[in-house]
Amino acid sequence: MSKTLSERYPGAALITGASAGLGEAFARRCAAEGMDLILVARRAERLEELAAELQKAHGIRAHAVPQDLQEPDCHEKLKASCDELGLRVSMLINNAGFGSHDLFHKVDIETQLRMIDVNCRAPVALTGVFLPSMLERGNGAVVFLASTAAYQPTPWFATYGATKTFDLMLGEALWAETRGTGVDVIAVSPGYTLTEFQAVADVRALPPKALWAKPEAVVNTCFANLGKKPSAIDGTLNAIAAFLPRINSRKTVAALAKGMLKPER
Ligand SMILES: NC(=O)c1ccc[n+]([C@@H]2O[C@H](COP(=O)([O-])OP(=O)(O)OC[C@H]3O[C@@H](n4cnc5c(N)ncnc54)[C@H](OP(=O)(O)O)[C@@H]3O)[C@@H](O)[C@H]2O)c1
Repeated sequence: MSKTLSERYPGAALITGASAGLGEAFARRCAAEGMDLILVARRAERLEELAAELQKAHGIRAHAVPQDLQEPDCHEKLKASCDELGLRVSMLINNAGFGSHDLFHKVDIETQLRMIDVNCRAPVALTGVFLPSMLERGNGAVVFLASTAAYQPTPWFATYGATKTFDLMLGEALWAETRGTGVDVIAVSPGYTLTEFQAVADVRALPPKALWAKPEAVVNTCFANLGKKPSAIDGTLNAIAAFLPRINSRKTVAALAKGMLKPER
């Protein structure tokens, strides 16, 4: 029988963006497999409700730690909170993120800079804080949420797609750096998934709902491949779509993506 997550990575999972969507699904799965939880996002009430529910259902320790990941010292504050709680982070899930669907020059530049802070800066900062102790112990896991948007330029989502390429490359590089250390790293790329992401990003070019994944499927893809591969794409069609840019010119790929992602007005 395969080991549970708490047997593989004894300790607590720190999950960013746990107040909704994929982060909540990661929290439910980690709790069901016996891990203690540190749930991070801005909406405190949602985190507290989820922590109470999972603590009761699974007999684990679950803590809501509200934190805005745009704050430059968010990593130091979260490390201090974990130390205060006496929890050892053995799994870091860099999941929080958001996008914005419009032409680059129409998206407020402050929003785009905040996107870089939440989608890129925070994962670097948090990994910088928690990876060294995992390496010292010779045990741990770090997950980065990338996207199928990471595999080609994404006009109408220009900055968002670039942040996800950053997450993908960061995760794959750290997979290589940590091989043989006992620490597993993976970058996971969902395609369209049923969460609050599209509403937050005001996405107006959506495929039929039948093609959307459930968050639990993305979580399965992640944990089925953690420790085996540098990255994983959720869904066969998404994997094929992510491969196509490799056999087409960059000019063709950018033009096709612009047409596909154009908002339906
Ligand atoms: N859903 C998709 O189709 C899809 C596809 C590919 C990749 N992804 C990636 O999957 C990840 C999770 O997204 P999701 O689909 O689950 O979206 P979601 O339902 O909108 O959840 C996003 C989470 O990020 C948190 N967050 C956003 N800004 C934050 C901030 N400044 N500080 C702290 N937390 C913040 C939100 O919490 P608060 O608002 O409470 O702070 C929320 O918990 C993202 O990295 C996204 O890029 C999603």
